[in-house]
Amino acid sequence: MARQFKRHDRSDIFIHWFNAACWLLLLVTGIGLISNPAIDPFGSGYPAALRAMVGGGGNLLVIHEVIGFVWMLGFIWYLAVNARGSLFFLKEIFIVSPTRDMAWMMKKMVLMTLGPKPLKMMGVSPELPPQGFYNMGQKAFAQASVAGGVVIAVTGVIMFLSDKTFGQEAVGIVSWAVTLHFIAVGVVFAGLLVHIYMAAISPEERPGFRSMFTGHVPEDYARHHHGLWYEKVKTAPKSEG
Ligand code: HEM
Repeated sequence: MARQFKRHDRSDIFIHWFNAACWLLLLVTGIGLISNPAIDPFGSGYPAALRAMVGGGGNLLVIHEVIGFVWMLGFIWYLAVNARGSLFFLKEIFIVSPTRDMAWMMKKMVLMTLGPKPLKMMGVSPELPPQGFYNMGQKAFAQASVAGGVVIAVTGVIMFLSDKTFGQEAVGIVSWAVTLHFIAVGVVFAGLLVHIYMAAISPEERPGFRSMFTGHVPEDYARHHHGLWYEKVKTAPKSEG
């Protein structure tokens, strides 16, 4: 069997799929909470049907809030059991090389939409600059989901408390919380569509998809897709663990 390199440990894999499941449930219940026909993405039939199913809008809100708190607890658990992995992840996604990573991003977008011809015509090599543990596309989505996740959690807690303890004086802050909650979900969701396409549908990323279950990628995938990471780990026996 080809040599394998470790990409994710079990807690990374768990938190990823736990997060994906929570996102799905939060979206399904959250969209059902919208009661404004002017902005309702699926028309008012969906919220009405979902509310009827769970015995009313009040119950749906409680379900949404419980899933939201379970989601936050999941991340607190992950930070506690894998602080090193969390730090490694944050460092990898927020450290960007302006020249290498931006060139990768520009070229990748041209290659995916128009192919190599326009680059060649401009005298630019279509070869992508080597990438580290994450490529710039993965970094951009991960940055949006971390920042978006924090905004969603903080604004969610503000809205939760507004029902229980806040008075009239907090109307301004609660309105901002509602607006930012929507914007953050929209931004992460837009990235998520690309993320799911790249991670689960695009055939060249198939070994990366498998690694989200097994934790490992084969050597040629590591070398080709994450050259800078491969150079660092290729001689470290630990990487095969
Ligand atoms: C059906 C849903 C999903 C699928 C199939 C999927 C698939 C994957 C795969 C295969 C990877 C590993 C990439 C690698 O390490 O090479 C990954 C990483 C990641 N996923 Fe997901 N994912 C899904 C949902 C989500 C959701 C809902 C979020 C957050 C809102 C998310 C956030 C991330 C992040 C931050 C990473 C690390 C950076 C990256 O590779 O983009 N994923 N995902």
